Amino acid sequence: MKTILMTGAGGGVGTHLRRELAGRYSLRLSDYRKLKPAKGETFVQGDISKISDMLRATKGVDAIVHLGGYSVEGAWDDILSANIIGCYNVFEAAQRNGVKRILFATSNHAVGFYRRDHVIDHRVYIKPDGRYGVSKVFGEALGSLYADKYGMEVFCMRIGNVNDAPIDKRRLSIWISPRDMAQLVTIGIEHPEIRFEIVYGVSNNRRSWYDNSNATRLGYRPQDDSEAFAAEVLAREKPGDPRAETYQGGTFVHVEAVENPAPLPQRRARKAAAKRTAKSKVTGLNKARGRR
Ligand SMILES: NC(=O)c1ccc[n+]([C@@H]2O[C@H](COP(=O)([O-])OP(=O)(O)OC[C@H]3O[C@@H](n4cnc5c(N)ncnc54)[C@H](O)[C@@H]3O)[C@@H](O)[C@H]2O)c1
Repeated sequence: MKTILMTGAGGGVGTHLRRELAGRYSLRLSDYRKLKPAKGETFVQGDISKISDMLRATKGVDAIVHLGGYSVEGAWDDILSANIIGCYNVFEAAQRNGVKRILFATSNHAVGFYRRDHVIDHRVYIKPDGRYGVSKVFGEALGSLYADKYGMEVFCMRIGNVNDAPIDKRRLSIWISPRDMAQLVTIGIEHPEIRFEIVYGVSNNRRSWYDNSNATRLGYRPQDDSEAFAAEVLAREKPGDPRAETYQGGTFVHVEAVENPAPLPQRRARKAAAKRTAKSKVTGLNKARGRR
């Protein structure tokens, strides 16, 4: 059985994937907050912004599913540390430890400034909609470099939104169910011919903005379609900011910075986050909850 390192395993996507992939792989979970491994899992605590931690975490694994990082728009210092330095450390540690395959959780926000009336594929020029989107583009570029220079096998998944059900009109176009996400991840781990690929992490949504033919080529056959939830979602939808409604990235295109909605484990961590936010040099800090 393959051993797979999952960074950021304590987050939303990691929690879905742990459940979906249980029994198929030996999962080595990693996060900077403490996690309790279940049967078939091990845990290595580590901060991705520290290369020494990543050298330890990546040792001896068959592939890495890199989820760890700052997962919404935010202050530059936070994004720099987790998504730029952290992402570099994961690729560099993998390379030094001879781990060839990395699945990188990039985002629809790498291309969020495409209009909603455009269908885009994996070859379009990048159009990030914020610092977070730029950090995902950085990760994709790093993946391309490590594939070409070091022969690594890099599978970049531009994830829409992973959830049991789509929660608003935008998500009807970008939603991915946990089981479809797991199918995509399995392809990323198992496909024999990955060099450098970009695919969209979306279900088979009728309202999709993506031509996901590259994922289809690699065998992806998503089972779910957000349309089953459309009537219910649209009935409760309220009109939003016209800029958000125009672009695929939604509120990310106009919100300067948002609080990270990821659950913080302890009061101390919450206090630290509040302090960071207060210190942020970002102007027009918006307290709206982050929406991927
Ligand atoms: N959730 C989605 O629908 C979605 C959509 C697009 C892209 N993504 C990407 O997928 C990945 C996972 O998303 P998520 O929703 O699970 O995010 P999340 O915020 O819920 O989880 C991120 C995890 O990373 C950990 N982390 C943060 N900084 C770290 C550090 N320096 N060292 C070690 N661990 C650290 C956090 O503790 C957390 O458990 C992220 O990279 C995100 O950008 C997610």
